[in-house]
Amino acid sequence: MRIIVCDNYDLLSKKAAQIIGSQMILEPKSVLGLATGSTPIGMYRNLIKMYEEGLIDFSKITTFNLDEYYQLPIDNDQSYHYFMDENLFNHVNINRENIHIPNGMSDDIEAECTLYEEMIDNNGGIDIQVLGIGNNAHIGFNEPTINFNKGTHIVTLEESTREANARFFNSIDEVPTKAITMGTGSIFKSKKILLLASGKNKAEAIYNTVHGKVTPEVPSSILQFHKDVIIILDKEAASLLNEDDYELMSEFTKTK
Ligand code: F6R
Repeated sequence: MRIIVCDNYDLLSKKAAQIIGSQMILEPKSVLGLATGSTPIGMYRNLIKMYEEGLIDFSKITTFNLDEYYQLPIDNDQSYHYFMDENLFNHVNINRENIHIPNGMSDDIEAECTLYEEMIDNNGGIDIQVLGIGNNAHIGFNEPTINFNKGTHIVTLEESTREANARFFNSIDEVPTKAITMGTGSIFKSKKILLLASGKNKAEAIYNTVHGKVTPEVPSSILQFHKDVIIILDKEAASLLNEDDYELMSEFTKTK
């Protein structure tokens, strides 16, 4: 686990984009795992700029998004389909056939989840997965629970998650109660993971991710066992860590 602390959100966003951009330059057919929410918006802005400057090319890139609300039409401006178009896909030369986002409108959700997992595998797995983190340490929409969820599945959102996301809707009543999400297992299978967090309200979740017990009650804690995780934080999100933790390599990484 490598932890990089930046002075502010702008620098965090630039560094994250540079890491994704390097992956794309070194492997133009990369499979990227993408996240929505406020945190990666700055990274997407920087990726668009890098594309406009001719530094990166999306034409052979494949993407898989972490999650989508259940039964929220994709043309709703709060759907994650809509978010990705607005914040990235409409601005770069990605081939639409290579974009994958769970279909929350499917009549057969079980089949949709199985298919999504198969598509990730058939594309050779995810080269680098971008993650945000919930105040409750969720990754994707894997909420604190008693078991780590393996594959893509349907989940009931915690009230605290709905409250946190209500800022994007007119009222909390409009926030869907369910979502489809890649499982903790699907995320863990990614070759590399890039977790981003900004703001004081993420500090406790970050502390628990790095130092806490590995437990499904803190879904992000599983990342302690992954061999290639980069966490980029601003100072507020890092405020409960010690300086010794920065650039920290986990015991697992050291012994590999
Ligand atoms: C989004 C996702 C969520 C968010 C998390 C943080 O695709 O999977 O886990 O990353 O809820 O959201 P923000 O960045 O809005 O604080």
